[in-house]
Amino acid sequence: MAHRTPSKRKKAGKSPAKTSRKSSAQKSLKSPLLATSARNGAPGVTSPGKHFLSDKVSHFTESVIREMTRQAMLHSAVNLAQGFPDFPAPSEIKQAAQQAVAADVNQYAITWGAKNLRNAIARQMGVWQGITVDPEKEITVCCGSTEAMISTLLAVCNAGDEVVIFEPFYENYGPDSVLSGAKPKFVKLRPPATDSGEWSFDEKELRRAFDKHTKAIILNTPNNPTGKVFTRSELELIRDLCVECDVLAITDEIYEHILYEGTEHISMVSLEGMRERTVTINGMSKTYSVTGWRVGWAVAPEKITNAIRKVHDFLTVGAPAPLQEAGAAALSLPPEYYAKLAEGYRVRRDHLMPSLTAAGFKCFRPRGAYYVMTDISAFGFKDDVSFAKYLVQEIGVSCVPGSSFYRDPRDGARQVRFAFCKKPETLDEAARRLAKLAR
Ligand SMILES: Cc1ncc(COP(=O)(O)O)c(C=O)c1O
Repeated sequence: MAHRTPSKRKKAGKSPAKTSRKSSAQKSLKSPLLATSARNGAPGVTSPGKHFLSDKVSHFTESVIREMTRQAMLHSAVNLAQGFPDFPAPSEIKQAAQQAVAADVNQYAITWGAKNLRNAIARQMGVWQGITVDPEKEITVCCGSTEAMISTLLAVCNAGDEVVIFEPFYENYGPDSVLSGAKPKFVKLRPPATDSGEWSFDEKELRRAFDKHTKAIILNTPNNPTGKVFTRSELELIRDLCVECDVLAITDEIYEHILYEGTEHISMVSLEGMRERTVTINGMSKTYSVTGWRVGWAVAPEKITNAIRKVHDFLTVGAPAPLQEAGAAALSLPPEYYAKLAEGYRVRRDHLMPSLTAAGFKCFRPRGAYYVMTDISAFGFKDDVSFAKYLVQEIGVSCVPGSSFYRDPRDGARQVRFAFCKKPETLDEAARRLAKLAR
């Protein structure tokens, strides 16, 4: 890029002023929930071993979402915090995994992914998005889309680069940016004013976020936590800005198949002008209900793929070999599988939302993914964290405090998120407990 000379970069990296500016921006990634806990606060701040630690790790906390799962276990609460299904994965893919282990697919796969899986990913990108992908040169299979995202950011970001992120955001993106040396720049998604409305952003605010330091935009559609599915015209606006400012789009599309009411998922890479400047991230976790298998991937132009593959190789060597074979089988499931998946989640959404509304939450109806963001103003709590603590300890349901999805915790202080990727019995039990709030 013409405006990003190596000398400029070097200077930015060395400047103390730059470092301290970044520190204050990134400090706000700390979660109030964890910041008050002894486990989080103690070692890095006061122990004599402080000098053993990287400065980077002081800029963020452990995941609040995963912490809420531990809280749920501690208090025997119904876990509607973390987005993992509590029902079985499809038997076809479990059998494929068992067969792969039985056939001794037990050693390292090719670092950037088993051939069968890469071929299946390329084939399905053609079927679902009309994109031709070279499985030999443009796909990197990673340990989940989580690793695909951090490997991509480490592969493309230099110190001083900025990464545009819509907020509320999936909490990993903040620490991912810090770890890769980039500075996150947040653009607000505003909640719908009416029941039929959509989360929306201000075009001027988005335009202002793009400048000569912008390296990439991270886009998650269908979106966690809002359930927003970006429309074609929104994506075209983002596309135009990416082209105009020479910016890369890194799109997290792991909820691609979880859509409601005929909403359409459009992959950024399918838009004219984006083929050469998009990294598409996806994985098995959500589409096939196997979040613990840790298989995801990044699809990118060859040069970017080469860089991602280098990072990935030294981070993890490779994703679990037998589960990659099962991944190839999963991607061969018929179209009915995906229709049934989406319909199953629509039923679960419509199961949970009425109980939340009856209990006093204002729900923002999701168009995709499997979460519902809610407004908790009616309960009169000081903030989302005290409410989430009360809910898990006294009511027996865990949720995720809204502040963990925002840079400034105050922006999420009136929101909490519930996951509905659960069995009907789980949702029934949650509803029974949530009803106590209305009494
Ligand atoms: C938007 C988003 N991206 C990535 C992930 C993690 O995906 P994976 O299990 O493939 O690492 C999640 C999990 O909740 C998510 O919501």
